[in-house]
Amino acid sequence: MRQFPHDFVWGVATSSYQIEGATDADGRGESIWDRFAATPGKIADGTNGNVACDHYHRWREDVELMRWMGLKAYRFSVAWPRVFPMGRGKVNTAGLDFYSRLVDGLLEVGIEPVVTLYHWDLPQALQDKGGWASRDTVSAFVEYADVMSQKLGDRVSRWITHNEPWCISILGYANGEHAPGIKDWGQALATAHHVLLSHGQAVPVIRANVPRAEVGVTLNLVPAEPASPSKEDQDACRAFDGGFNRWYLDPLYGKGYPRDVIDDHVAEGRLKSDTLPFVRQGDMADIAAPIDFLGVNYYNRGVIRSDRIPEAQNAPRTVHVSPEKTEMDWEVSPHGLTQLLVRLHQDYKPGRLYVTENGAAYGTTPDADGRVRDTKRVHYLRTHLEASLEAIKQGVPLKGYFAWSLLDNFEWAYGYQKRFGMVYVDYATQKRIPKDSAHLYRAVVAQNGLDV
Ligand code: NOJ
Repeated sequence: MRQFPHDFVWGVATSSYQIEGATDADGRGESIWDRFAATPGKIADGTNGNVACDHYHRWREDVELMRWMGLKAYRFSVAWPRVFPMGRGKVNTAGLDFYSRLVDGLLEVGIEPVVTLYHWDLPQALQDKGGWASRDTVSAFVEYADVMSQKLGDRVSRWITHNEPWCISILGYANGEHAPGIKDWGQALATAHHVLLSHGQAVPVIRANVPRAEVGVTLNLVPAEPASPSKEDQDACRAFDGGFNRWYLDPLYGKGYPRDVIDDHVAEGRLKSDTLPFVRQGDMADIAAPIDFLGVNYYNRGVIRSDRIPEAQNAPRTVHVSPEKTEMDWEVSPHGLTQLLVRLHQDYKPGRLYVTENGAAYGTTPDADGRVRDTKRVHYLRTHLEASLEAIKQGVPLKGYFAWSLLDNFEWAYGYQKRFGMVYVDYATQKRIPKDSAHLYRAVVAQNGLDV
């Protein structure tokens, strides 16, 4: 039996807009994802999060599923527009109470609630004033973090400020694939800065409200390798790692924005000059507020090829090496997870690390006997748990693992076409069926180890 440390935290993760539905209930305000999904052509299957998994009404059933799985923790996010329908100002108690009930329900069955404050559903009212590209959103977030930590801090000790700042800024503001659907690099880089700044300023506020708080942030990180030893590919790999990983990690760990990436942005015309117009005195110190843990969302590695070498002009920047891919077209690479965790430990020394998301999209449906044999997800889960264990063996302070996701859910611009759940959701009836992967995970958690 390959055992995990005795205090290892086993969990699953979800996010508000992806599962809750009930977008009109109890005074919730409009979010940027409501607006974006209602815009024709933005979501591949034309769907939206209005009903999703109806978790807002079925949360007790979902908590029961987690209890059955034996989970120690549940990472969920709070929908900011439920609490502040207009982004700031008056608190909507009815919306806030939903999370209070959920936290109580989790604690009753011995599951620790882990709260993510921002998982992309910004109040539309704040977007109307510029969204994250506007510095005003920073103080709005800090006020929201203050209210949430005051209200739930007596029962919640683990807090994640933001989920995936790269996605918020680049998908939301540079290539427009996510809400708010803007395509403007200047706004995207300002957004990244404001998201990081709001994180850094929220950290001391949460600590003041919750003396036993453990505060961190979750990044999506992709370990990169050059497709060949050529100088061009190595350069492209450095640039990819810089823009994707170091741009967020370096400031969080007090190193400022990486010089080489600033130069790349200027060279590519994404920035007008190397003075970052959105950075004010004191910002970098705020961003580097000490955190208790780093949350890592890992799905795949990147094998990077330069698009500057003439013979590869039409080739994609990222090439797959292993033939195994998920339905997102992401390469399956468990070893990348070990590499990433070891590198983070070496380069940034986070006191603790959690895998806050890891999982795979496969559309397996129930067989005639009702069982969902998601063999590929079982394989993905097993190999990535092995990779996590390997990192621990190499000295990485990895303290927990949260599978993405508990349920099939609304996969952003893909709608409901991509299924990441360990529990199958029949959207017509809202019936939940634990897949084979849920059964495997349950056994792993029960044994705190892998020979199952
Ligand atoms: C990361 C995001 O946090 C989550 O919302 C998304 O569903 C998964 N990746 C899968 O793409």
